[in-house]
Amino acid sequence: MAIRKIASIGHPVLREQSRALSLEDLRSPDTQRFIDDLVETMRDANGAGLAAPQVYTPIQVCAIEVRSNPRYPYKPDVPLTVLVNPVIQVLTDERFDNYEGCLSVPNLRGIVSRAPEIRVTAWDREGAPVDKIIRGLTAGTYQHEIDHLHGVIFVDRVTDPRSLCTWTEFERHHQAAFFERARALVAHWGS
Ligand code: NI
Repeated sequence: MAIRKIASIGHPVLREQSRALSLEDLRSPDTQRFIDDLVETMRDANGAGLAAPQVYTPIQVCAIEVRSNPRYPYKPDVPLTVLVNPVIQVLTDERFDNYEGCLSVPNLRGIVSRAPEIRVTAWDREGAPVDKIIRGLTAGTYQHEIDHLHGVIFVDRVTDPRSLCTWTEFERHHQAAFFERARALVAHWGS
């Protein structure tokens, strides 16, 4: 396993439409090694998720994991999840304001409107079908990672650019109010 370099906003790879994988591609030793690297890189950078194009590989694979994350202390834990060729179906007209950050957008956060209830269909890393309903704050994390597979970065979806802030100013001026809203959301949706 190896820790890979993470692409920063401005690199064209982050704007590509990632390629879907066949089962044969997915099960190849190269792709399995790639997935190990993706997970290791996500953990090393304290990401809540990491998508393949963020490590310069535009294929439809992303990883999500939250274990008392210091970057996102309000996020509920999510066990390691690898999604291959994921598709989202939005199940509600409700939206919530999510203060997002991204390993490919150093030192910037901003408010993005996300659906709090989605259905995700995909394969896991072995190619077994995944079909699950994801709710609450965790649904925002899924939408953020899957956006990367279609060349979309959270800044594209920031509804009010005046919400943009550095991590230090987030902590100073926005964190307390957002944590309160995040706790209420998690209490309502259970995740
Ligand atoms: Ni990101």
